Amino acid sequence: MSQQEGDRDRINIAIDGPAGAGKSTVARMVAGQLNYVYIDTGAMYRAVTLMAQRSGIEANDTDALAKLVEQLRIVLMPGEKAQAVFVNGEDVTNQIRSREVTLQVSHYAAQESVRSMLGKLQREMAASKGVVMDGRDIGTHVLPDAELKVFLTASVQERALRRYNEIKESQPISLAQLEQEIAERDALDEKRAISPLTRAADALLLDSTGKSIEEVVEEIVRLKNRVSTL
Ligand code: DC
Repeated sequence: MSQQEGDRDRINIAIDGPAGAGKSTVARMVAGQLNYVYIDTGAMYRAVTLMAQRSGIEANDTDALAKLVEQLRIVLMPGEKAQAVFVNGEDVTNQIRSREVTLQVSHYAAQESVRSMLGKLQREMAASKGVVMDGRDIGTHVLPDAELKVFLTASVQERALRRYNEIKESQPISLAQLEQEIAERDALDEKRAISPLTRAADALLLDSTGKSIEEVVEEIVRLKNRVSTL
């Protein structure tokens, strides 16, 4: 098959869902299998949050936040374990995963200036197709025309347990506290006025509770192949 014919098959895949449902791991693996570009939009919201925190800008300081986002140049690069994130040339990949950022990011992500700047950037990244983008509003707002939309979820208990196993060595936090924080973050993401976390009407609901990552990846690749042959 020529490159051009191959390119004609390329679609965009939107994977939305609540925190800890396995979106990033799944999206990364799907992108790897399809030779697509993976875009972690949560990392972009985290990067804005980190930079605002460093500048002492609160989430509700809309003017200062709008000015700050205009000055940020966010670049995503494929990394070994996670996607590498650069802001104005600085590698912030690890810092955006800190607890301070995690606890505050939903508040910054609720701001119009932040969402419009990042949404525009995300659409540009997906313009030439062949993208697997994960987030909260990809299927509903960022890429409403994505050829495949998946809403990936899992129970709060399972999501908290997965995160607990990931971070228990490095961060002193109980499973119960993580469960509470995840439930709070879900509520903030679902209730915000702009682009709340909701399942697009045409998104396929995939519950990963009790499923392995590989099973979920396989299912999405199968769905992609079905869409491509339509
Ligand atoms: O996927 P994550 O946990 O890294 O996302 C961090 C935060 O960013 C999360 O609280 C919701 C927000 N977010 C968003 O509002 N819209 C997106 N497309 C992606 C993430």
